[in-house]
Amino acid sequence: MHAKTASTLLSPVADDMRQLDDLIRARLDSDVALVRQVAEYIVAGGGKRLRPALLLLAAGAVGFRGAARLELAAVVEFIHTATLLHDDVVDESQLRRGRRTANAAFGNAASVLVGDFLYSRAFQMMVGLENMRVMRVLADATNTIAEGEVLQLMNCHDADVDEQRYLDVVRRKTAMLFEAAARLGAMLGAAAPALEQGLATYGMHLGTAFQVTDDVLDYSGAALEIGKSLGDDLAEGKPTLPLIRAMQSGNPAERALVRRAIVEGGRADFAPVLAAIKSTGALDYARAAAAREAATAARSIDGLPPSAYKDSLLELTSFSVTRRR
Ligand code: IPE
Ligand code: IPE
Ligand code: MG
Ligand code: MG
Repeated sequence: MHAKTASTLLSPVADDMRQLDDLIRARLDSDVALVRQVAEYIVAGGGKRLRPALLLLAAGAVGFRGAARLELAAVVEFIHTATLLHDDVVDESQLRRGRRTANAAFGNAASVLVGDFLYSRAFQMMVGLENMRVMRVLADATNTIAEGEVLQLMNCHDADVDEQRYLDVVRRKTAMLFEAAARLGAMLGAAAPALEQGLATYGMHLGTAFQVTDDVLDYSGAALEIGKSLGDDLAEGKPTLPLIRAMQSGNPAERALVRRAIVEGGRADFAPVLAAIKSTGALDYARAAAAREAATAARSIDGLPPSAYKDSLLELTSFSVTRRR
């Protein structure tokens, strides 16, 4: 399980994923050169393509093979990519997908504007499908992600953020798009309402496990594997679960250290904060929280008939916790 890469996990949709790559590149077209340049730059960095894969697996699991699945998968990946372009500006991140972030390479203005291009291109493609329910799901998800990022901005440098407020941000900024992707796959196949809801609930918990793990990796990952810099969350004073737990269970000195690091931000305290996170067991606590979310995700698709697609969906729940990238 640990050794599995995202691509072996996705073998039932391997052919779809190749077609998706072609479609993504075709849909990036613009006669404005800088749009193409920045958009192709971030897309060429690769990425795991988990959200479109989720949509394709969900569609497969309910027996849908129509062309709309690829178009919608590309829409979901464009929305995700747009959020990354904006997120890296807000987080002042320097590394993404193993290369300089678009903001580092082209500047903040180009990143924000090309992010807008990707959002609006996603909406052009979505409208082309002429399905009002699909449009509602995607419009709502995109709006919720924006709320999540703003809520997170308000939580930055606030050491009183608790687990509940943290999870509220995670559900909105990350889990919502996973939920939408899984739901859309089910909707394409006109799945029974209970199956659709099961897949949506699966996506929500999977996305939560995925983000909690991301927040663990921000302290404990290997930059070469995750393709991002460690310590970005601390630098922004983001009260993520490892820090929240370290404050709950640390001694007075550890608590004071973490509080100050959140309030002040920056990278100067990374080593002592990491030591506090480790000695308080906060990383294991966060990993256990992610594992519970993953287990809930798996249970949510009990009602799906057996298939290779379902097997992949189940494997993705463990991947979301054990992943190193
Ligand atoms: C990064 O998502 C943003 C989070 C929600 C943590 P991914 O880890 O899926 O990023 P890519 O697309 O694979 O680069
Ligand atoms: C996820 O949060 C961002 C979005 C959902 C847009 P992070 O800020 O943790 O994501 P990374 O670590 O930069 O990929
Ligand atoms: Mg970020
Ligand atoms: Mg992160």
